Amino acid sequence: MEKKVRRIGVLTSGGDAPGMNAAVRAVVRTAIANGIECIGIRRGWQGLIGCDFVRMTRESVGHLLSRGGTVLYTARSEEFMTPEGRQKAVNTCKMLGLDGIVAIGGDGTFRGALELSRLGVPVVGVPATIDNDVGCTNYTIGFDSACNTAIECIDKIRDTMQSHERCSVVEVMGRNAGFLALYVGTAVGATAVLVPEHVESFEENVIERIRGAKLAGYTHFMVVVAEGAGNAADVGQKIQDALGIKPTITVIGHIQRGGTPTGRDRETATRMGYYAVQAFVEGRGNCIIGTQEGSIVEIPIEEALTRQKHLQMERYKIMEYMQFGGSHEYQ
Ligand code: F6P
Repeated sequence: MEKKVRRIGVLTSGGDAPGMNAAVRAVVRTAIANGIECIGIRRGWQGLIGCDFVRMTRESVGHLLSRGGTVLYTARSEEFMTPEGRQKAVNTCKMLGLDGIVAIGGDGTFRGALELSRLGVPVVGVPATIDNDVGCTNYTIGFDSACNTAIECIDKIRDTMQSHERCSVVEVMGRNAGFLALYVGTAVGATAVLVPEHVESFEENVIERIRGAKLAGYTHFMVVVAEGAGNAADVGQKIQDALGIKPTITVIGHIQRGGTPTGRDRETATRMGYYAVQAFVEGRGNCIIGTQEGSIVEIPIEEALTRQKHLQMERYKIMEYMQFGGSHEYQ
């Protein structure tokens, strides 16, 4: 990127995440502080196709830090996956005179960003998804808030499970990744945790854990299951078949995606939004802003999309060590 950046667009795309608004605010204010005009694109890539925009000012992003959701709206666009759709998006950029786009979202958003960058529109990505499953960054905006929301819900469920001496199966989000379930399961001291990365032995991971807790004197059991590891009703049925107890079923669902972002998400979103604009100011586009050991890093988009993030086995082991009924009990 050689020419001076005068006007950029900012959009949010894919599943929303608490802290997206804080990122939008940071992008707008950093842009204006650098003499760059900022245009909000509503409804993600779909909005770019349809030229759905709003002019942003320092004031228009006031009072956003503590608001969940995204004021720019979000969407998952089928049309953007077609060459014709992407060409329309490029035409919008030409019409509005956009020198670049800051795209806030997850992996799907960044795959779109790569395609757009190949058509000559520079894009900088800011990772935001409650799943924390973007390969090129340790952390994605929204994860901390979603974990805390799920933990708060499960603590409440546990109170009544304890009173009534029952078993509960709680489904948390995470279609392809168990980061959220592992973190939440560890933090609530779950009897058993099921993640998509380890579905091989239900007997060992769930039934033996409940049995172990029972033998240790427990009278209530909390099973946390990631959405991608099987649905909570099926898990409940399998527990009933194996142990003769009827678990209660709770799907936390979209409650995890909404609500006030935590301090960590607001602060991280602010820094990431700042560095996203800074990349444009310094003449770099086509990268993703990430974190590594707490510091902000910039990864070229193409490389970022090849990176993979695996569930941390050490953390999984720590979670297991806290449970009953596994082979670790007898070592
Ligand atoms: O990507 C975030 C996420 O919340 C996933 O955990 C979940 O599988 C998905 O979005 C659900 O999306 P929606 O309910 O919007 O279809």
